[in-house]
Amino acid sequence: MLGNFGYSNPTRLYFGDNALKYLNRELKKFGSNVLLVYGGGSIKKNGIYDEVLQALEMNDKNVVELPGVMSNPTVHKLYEGCELARQHDIDLILAVGGGSVCDYAKALSVSIHCEEDPWDRYYLRQERPNNPIVPVGCILTMVGTGSEMNGGSVITHPEQKLKIGHVFGDDVMPKFSILNPTYTLTLPKYQMVAGFFDIMSHIMEQYFSGEDDNTSDYLAEGLMKSLIHSSRIAVADPQDYEARSNIMWTATWALNTLISRGKTTDWEVHMIGQAVGAVTDATHGMTLAAVSLPYYRRIMKDGLAKFRRFAINVWGVDPAGRSDEDVAKAGLAELERWMKDIGVVMHLKELGVEESMYEDIASGTFLLSGGYRKLTKEEVVEILRESM
Ligand code: NZQ
Ligand code: ZN
Repeated sequence: MLGNFGYSNPTRLYFGDNALKYLNRELKKFGSNVLLVYGGGSIKKNGIYDEVLQALEMNDKNVVELPGVMSNPTVHKLYEGCELARQHDIDLILAVGGGSVCDYAKALSVSIHCEEDPWDRYYLRQERPNNPIVPVGCILTMVGTGSEMNGGSVITHPEQKLKIGHVFGDDVMPKFSILNPTYTLTLPKYQMVAGFFDIMSHIMEQYFSGEDDNTSDYLAEGLMKSLIHSSRIAVADPQDYEARSNIMWTATWALNTLISRGKTTDWEVHMIGQAVGAVTDATHGMTLAAVSLPYYRRIMKDGLAKFRRFAINVWGVDPAGRSDEDVAKAGLAELERWMKDIGVVMHLKELGVEESMYEDIASGTFLLSGGYRKLTKEEVVEILRESM
């Protein structure tokens, strides 16, 4: 570990199939006006909405509902939420849903009292909040993003064809998150699997950077092994509670700032995936899956030692009698096999990408330098072509 860093994570977690009972304890800490934020209605079908509303009523909260937060939430929905929250003098934003709902709640928390356009301030200019922040609590129903225990908040501006994340600080991270694995059992298989790849991608984005011997990499390897093991069980039987609960916990630790300590971190796959999402509105985890292998095969030689280690420590590749490059390639072949086994999208054309979109996607891709090599815009286009 050669880096210098600070560490804190203010989010209190409640995990397990009885986790919702701790909502009572948390609600008592906040004022009476609660903005209940949720998505397109899955929580009404599976009964989570009723359970949450009952807890809010028992605690005498005035509940204002803000439904309809879409996957890949838009800036227009953010403006709508700001209006509503201002009208009702909101004390707590309670997000019930997946990463989109949690991300949206965080964007709202910093935007309600923001005197300028939050898109310009937080997303285009990446500035910090300088106004009061409304606290957020999360009840997670979809596993993958880690939004339940981080400061990340990704918003899409459809007209500008941009999807941009802002990683806010401790003051924006959820005050609490309720993680009940049974809540995730009603997820459609497509979403479940997209979440699995999102988790893997978060870990790889942090793992594939740096050359030093770093505890964070050992933690990352453990998380990847647990995910690979449990994902295969969950794909065979999506109702397997043990596998789904392991994956829920892995997702949280994959992106709650722990395994990025002492690392420069890459995030280029996410930059390309987000740019794909901006023009297609495709499912986040699937955008990452479609571009990952062409990206990693392209940069493999620049980080050969780590790709070799990935093959051996994560996938159990036997290095005996093989060149470093062969071992590294075998690791990526194992990754490909796992992706096909769990059934992620392997080609961008399945997500509606067409050649005419390459220019917008490449222009919307931020080129970062934390990984093993900074790409050029031309290389992004080549990766898109290779991912079709
Ligand atoms: O809207 P509803 O009806 O609730 O349906 C949702 C949605 O259609 C459904 N769903 C969620 N829980 C369910 C369920 N359906 C049945 N049963 C349940 N229990 O699943 C669909 C997808 O939900 P969504 O929240 O969009 O998915 P996800 O959790 O993958 O979040 C994606 C968003 O998070 C951002 C992505 O860019 C994207 O905008 N990310 C946030 C990050 C962060 N905060 O750090 C990092 C990630 O890399 C990512 O960028
Ligand atoms: Zn992600």
